[in-house]
Amino acid sequence: MQKILIKNIKGLVQAGEEIPLIRKGKDMQELPIVKNAFLYLEDNEVIAYGKMDDWKEIGSSSDIEIIDAEGCFVLPAFCDSHTHSVFAAYREEEFVMKIQGASYADIAQKGGGILNSAKKISTIDEKSLFDSSLERINTMIDSGIGALEIKSGYGLDLENELKMLSVINTLKEKLSIPIKRTFLAAHAIPEAFKDKKRDYVDEIVNHWIPFVGNKGLADYVDVFCETGYFDVGDVRRIGDALAGSNLQLKVHVNQFTSIGGIAEALNQKAVSVDHLEVLTEDDISKLKGKNTIATLLPGCSFFLGIPYAPARTLIDNNISVALASDFNPGSSPTYNPFFIWSLACIKLKMTPLEALNALTVNGAFAMGLGHTHGRIFKGYNGTLILTKPTPSIDYFPYAFGENHTQEMLNK
Ligand code: NIG
Ligand code: FE
Repeated sequence: MQKILIKNIKGLVQAGEEIPLIRKGKDMQELPIVKNAFLYLEDNEVIAYGKMDDWKEIGSSSDIEIIDAEGCFVLPAFCDSHTHSVFAAYREEEFVMKIQGASYADIAQKGGGILNSAKKISTIDEKSLFDSSLERINTMIDSGIGALEIKSGYGLDLENELKMLSVINTLKEKLSIPIKRTFLAAHAIPEAFKDKKRDYVDEIVNHWIPFVGNKGLADYVDVFCETGYFDVGDVRRIGDALAGSNLQLKVHVNQFTSIGGIAEALNQKAVSVDHLEVLTEDDISKLKGKNTIATLLPGCSFFLGIPYAPARTLIDNNISVALASDFNPGSSPTYNPFFIWSLACIKLKMTPLEALNALTVNGAFAMGLGHTHGRIFKGYNGTLILTKPTPSIDYFPYAFGENHTQEMLNK
């Protein structure tokens, strides 16, 4: 059995005594911190924690690895509930087009965007896709991510969507952190179905979703509900196709335009609605009092230069807010969770504590892991972040662009 004792922790963050629940409204500002703390882990499980003064030897200490965390914090690992981290290649050529004035829509029209990534996926073999994705995801884990959702969506035909899902399933098998798998065939309309969106959605709902569901290849199904992509009727058809399966719905929605996707996602009891850069008052009033989580992706706003989601309004209306990286080669080529934390504070005007709740406990709930991840709690997962020596919690988002992780414990 592996035993680890971390002593003299400056602040043990998200370590409370109450059962961890999703946080919303004023509770977003609640974040239990034990100062001058110890933490004891056995085999990747949180066993005990408290004030250093209360530490009592547990049995023989000769086989315990002891870490002195003087000046450092221990944080729960970040729970990144929205990523496209399996892809064949970055798209820095589009970045230059963007600098020269092209919009996301202009680039898509010139054969760039999601269809560009789909072309690249169709020519890469599964082993190379797996190897490059594994390397990338190991870097994400080293930077502080302890639970991860990954979407398909660059295949756009059955063969290549299944190639992506197969890579995601192999990553899930090989990695020690939990991986949640999302089937996102409705990400863009492929060349072969140009002007035949209805036929493409027919394929997805009549054949692909039943296949993926029966084989247990995914946990979630996602759809990009946006002008020029998929509409409210498509969200309805895709949501309806999940009835009787183990698959749950997530929706990319209100990134550029508000076309009614939120109301339909709520009808379909979506686990989360993600993006929300453009929200109407009606959208906000519909989100109130629902269990669906609002997942905000400020990396995408930063990179594309589009509006930032109105996080304050959502929090003030008691709507649960999670934050995620949206790591992908087109609209958010960063996985750095500390940078997302900074953006949430600087651009979304969330306080450091609200943003940390959104990146940990609420991110965990946004992928069905709220009862094992996102908090430091007895029996919870012991993959945690030992930070570099740091003056205060507020310093983490303040010193933007830095990676504050010294070591991932139990990765
Ligand atoms: O979440 N908006 C749709 N999908 C991704 C972008 C995908 C891409 O451009 O490759 C997103 O931003
Ligand atoms: Fe996305």
